[in-house]
Amino acid sequence: MTRPAAFSRPGLLRTLAVLVALMLMGVAIWLEAGGTLIGLAMLNLVLMVGLVRPRSRTPSPPPLRIAGHEASPEFRQALDALPSPTILTDRRAVVVYANPASTTAFPGLRAGFPLSAAMRDPDLLAALERVQKGEREATIELIERVPLERSFSVTIRRMEGDDVVLVSLTDTTKARQVERMRADFVANASHELRTPLASILGFVETLQGPAKADEAARTRFLDIVATQARRMTRLINDLLSLSRLEMNAHIRPSERVDLRPLVLHLFDVLGGLASERGVRLEHDFEEGAELAVTGDRDELMRLVENLIENAIKYGGSGGRVDAQLRREGHEIFLSIRDFGPGIAPEHIPRLTERFYRVNTEESRVQGGTGLGLAICKHIVTRHRGRLEIESPGQAGTVTRIVLPAYKIDQ
Ligand SMILES: Nc1ncnc2c1ncn2[C@@H]1O[C@H](COP(=O)(O)OP(=O)(O)OP(=O)(O)O)[C@@H](O)[C@H]1O
Ligand SMILES: [Mg+2]
Repeated sequence: MTRPAAFSRPGLLRTLAVLVALMLMGVAIWLEAGGTLIGLAMLNLVLMVGLVRPRSRTPSPPPLRIAGHEASPEFRQALDALPSPTILTDRRAVVVYANPASTTAFPGLRAGFPLSAAMRDPDLLAALERVQKGEREATIELIERVPLERSFSVTIRRMEGDDVVLVSLTDTTKARQVERMRADFVANASHELRTPLASILGFVETLQGPAKADEAARTRFLDIVATQARRMTRLINDLLSLSRLEMNAHIRPSERVDLRPLVLHLFDVLGGLASERGVRLEHDFEEGAELAVTGDRDELMRLVENLIENAIKYGGSGGRVDAQLRREGHEIFLSIRDFGPGIAPEHIPRLTERFYRVNTEESRVQGGTGLGLAICKHIVTRHRGRLEIESPGQAGTVTRIVLPAYKIDQ
């Protein structure tokens, strides 16, 4: 029950102040005391009215009425607190209530306005109509592509014996993305395997038939078959490493691995490829610094090998690849820099996706699977580090890994 303003606490005090002021003025006139008492009365009036200003009240929401009954404040609070968008409409699909999660997702939703004013999806409106006409429940997938791609699973349900329809939404954006990534991954992996397999089968058939007696062709074709089979083996090994890394993502490696000898060892391993491409391998290691990290030696080897190999394969035209190692506080920075054509900015955020290649043909020719940087990212994540790729002004590429330095007491 609401009380008239004069009987609320501030209202009462104000009424009292006016009465006291009037009394003081009356006494002043009666006693002919003149200025002093009238002055006091005015002061009292000003002070009381000024001090007892009504407290600014936040506008309380209109009462929520469901099927003619006013819902309790607790019920409303519970609806407000629901993390998923929840809307109540009447039988004519006019919004009766929309919780904060729903107005955040669909800012146009307002009590008293038709739901269709804020949510125009034809499937949703058709389902709502079916429920209005008597169907008990309907579920639809709401997919929006602009301005951002997002999706919801929407359940529309008529409440028992009521005129109220409950529209509840579950955000399925993330789940759909994961599902799409899984489907893409399977499609990519099969495609990558199918190409060398088709080539192997083609050559085997040629060797069984037309080239049966051709000695020279046999040697050449068998070489190709061996190369393709090696490519498939590599792809399968990469896929296995990825799934192993995913499985062990939460186990933190603990070995002490000095990055200085590791980089130098990889320079030896990749020296042949570098000289084949006319690339000079150079290093710049911070002197006197402890450059060991906490890690898994084999994984770190794999990581750094792919970065140096990429620099030689894709940036080799610059004639030089630099490895720089330095320490900053508790972090070790390893930067591999090449002076090749660089990478256009739109590709950079996608390089660590599985099978993503700037130039698929070039990578295939180089024997790449497009899984290298995806594996690198997993390794760095397992080591609680960061992987950064930069190509300032597309003048070469810098790939940097930042890893936690080895601590003796760990
Ligand atoms: N230093 C670089 N300069 C220019 N492009 C690069 C460089 N490093 C990587 N890239 C681009 O990023 C793509 C992805 O690299 P990633 O190492 O993941 O795969 P890959 O080298 O093609 O195959 P894999 O590593 O399995 O042999 C490459 O195909 C190449 O287009
Ligand atoms: Mg690579």
